[in-house]
Amino acid sequence: MLRILLIVIIANAAMAQVPFLGACPNLETMQNFELDKYLGKWYEVERYFAWFEFGGRCVTANYSLGENDSVKIVNTQISLLTGVAASIEGIGRLISKSDDPKLSVTFPSLPLPFDAPYWILDSDYKTYAVVWSCTNLGVFNVRNVWILTREPRPPVAVLEKSYQVIDKNNISRAYFIRTDQKNCPASY
Ligand SMILES: *[C@@H]1O[C@H](CO)[C@@H](O)[C@H](O)[C@H]1NC(C)=O
Ligand SMILES: *[C@@H]1O[C@H](CO)[C@@H](O)[C@H](O)[C@H]1NC(C)=O
Ligand SMILES: *[C@@H]1O[C@H](CO)[C@@H](O)[C@H](O)[C@H]1NC(C)=O
Repeated sequence: MLRILLIVIIANAAMAQVPFLGACPNLETMQNFELDKYLGKWYEVERYFAWFEFGGRCVTANYSLGENDSVKIVNTQISLLTGVAASIEGIGRLISKSDDPKLSVTFPSLPLPFDAPYWILDSDYKTYAVVWSCTNLGVFNVRNVWILTREPRPPVAVLEKSYQVIDKNNISRAYFIRTDQKNCPASY
């Protein structure tokens, strides 16, 4: 049972992305990024669908300053399978200049901790952020995209701004699924 669980977790981490043929498109991140304005709590409202993902509802991310100029990440969600709330801690590191929001993110407690790219394509810090992750794997690449918002159920205008960023970057909207942010605990 434990072995099956481990395999599921590893497969989940690797497959929680959508595969595409060819190499990652070279997208541009936002300019003059200011990390301190980006910190704090975000709600995941949409993300790419992954077939091997149990997923969760009420998914949030809290970013704060960590040691050595890193970003401490706390992702929290309620499992769709068990209904139990769980958090996982990660570390993000800026991989180039501090005003270029390309991070490398790792979750050390996963059985196979691996670095995943985390690129902020655009954000106004106050309402929305669009985050892109793409990894080349030989003849194909795996992608994930997240729309994060400061409110659990943002107004349509905020979603429209996010979709504009997605369209501008020629990112397909076909793989998005909505994250359930209804009836979530008030705080956790
Ligand atoms: C986010 O994390 C920081 C640092 O751990 C903590 O001080 C803050 O209360 C957290 N915010 C929320 C909304 O959980
Ligand atoms: C920060 O740097 C120190 C010294 O290099 C190291 O011992 C420590 O593990 C680092 N902390 C993190 C969170 O990477
Ligand atoms: C998006 O596609 C259009 C038309 O194919 C192209 O002109 C544009 O450069 C592309 N933009 C990006 C960011 O790839």
